[in-house]
Amino acid sequence: MVGKSNSLISLEELTKDDILYLLGQAGKFENEPNRKILDGKVVATLFFEPSTRTRLSFETAANRLGARVIGFSDAATTSSTKGETLKDTIMMVSNYADVIIMRHYLEGAAKYASEVSPVPIINAGDGANQHPSQTMLDLYSMMKTQGTLDGLDITLVGDLKYGRTVHSMLTAMRHFNSRFRFIAPKELEMPDEYKEYCDANGIRYTESKDFDEDVINTSDIIYMTRVQKERFTDLMVYESVKNAYILRKQMLANAKSNLKILHPLPRVNEIDQDVDTHPAAYYFQQAKNGLYIREALICNSLGIQV
Ligand code: CP
Repeated sequence: MVGKSNSLISLEELTKDDILYLLGQAGKFENEPNRKILDGKVVATLFFEPSTRTRLSFETAANRLGARVIGFSDAATTSSTKGETLKDTIMMVSNYADVIIMRHYLEGAAKYASEVSPVPIINAGDGANQHPSQTMLDLYSMMKTQGTLDGLDITLVGDLKYGRTVHSMLTAMRHFNSRFRFIAPKELEMPDEYKEYCDANGIRYTESKDFDEDVINTSDIIYMTRVQKERFTDLMVYESVKNAYILRKQMLANAKSNLKILHPLPRVNEIDQDVDTHPAAYYFQQAKNGLYIREALICNSLGIQV
């Protein structure tokens, strides 16, 4: 097992070697995704917020490894609606499952769950805070397509304020010597705490509102993000920024040949559908890579190595 504990709450817990080890494990699962190494184990997926990819890929990972899956995708069907606390829910589910994968709308909920849970917790996204399994699949996708995580020009575009995927990515990339460009409207700029984190950890970055050809043509990775309506308290602000950036195929005419466009998905309209057939479009393969990474993460939490 790598990491400070069997739980995975933030990539702050992982060293560079830990990350490279997990990427290596994922590579083995990509070569052979069906292995009955979790026979007899029960994996719980507790999703207090909506999800398509994260929940289904974790559940597919568990199924392909021979585990049984329990859980819920809609907290409205659970006793949390009767006032049951998160602590009690975790204590109950830990009676039944060997590992708990949890998405919650509150920042810090996963950390709290890991402090009260007798079984490992894997954070599947806590509010606008962290989404470590997404970042691991993002790193896997970058490594697979670029051959390295060092020396890349990575452009993050869109909702950098509430986007937990970009926050998690910076946490992991403190170990690698790449350069970031943060492209966002003023309302969705990268929060100061993450810029301070970059400064403290030697992560190079620039900031701009302009997503222009110069940026596109010098990027190895363009990481588009959705403007997340559900995070806004003032919907007028959401309306003013929801179409801030839309990537279209013609904007890629002079892109580098190695460019890959990533997106954690779901997308709304920030990547035009005409981009889907461009060789740089990688977001659907990126989501597929999530299966292999999540096989590796579940096994790591259970102390199993392949
Ligand atoms: N990328 C991601 O977290 O997608 P879902 O919300 O569909 O799980």
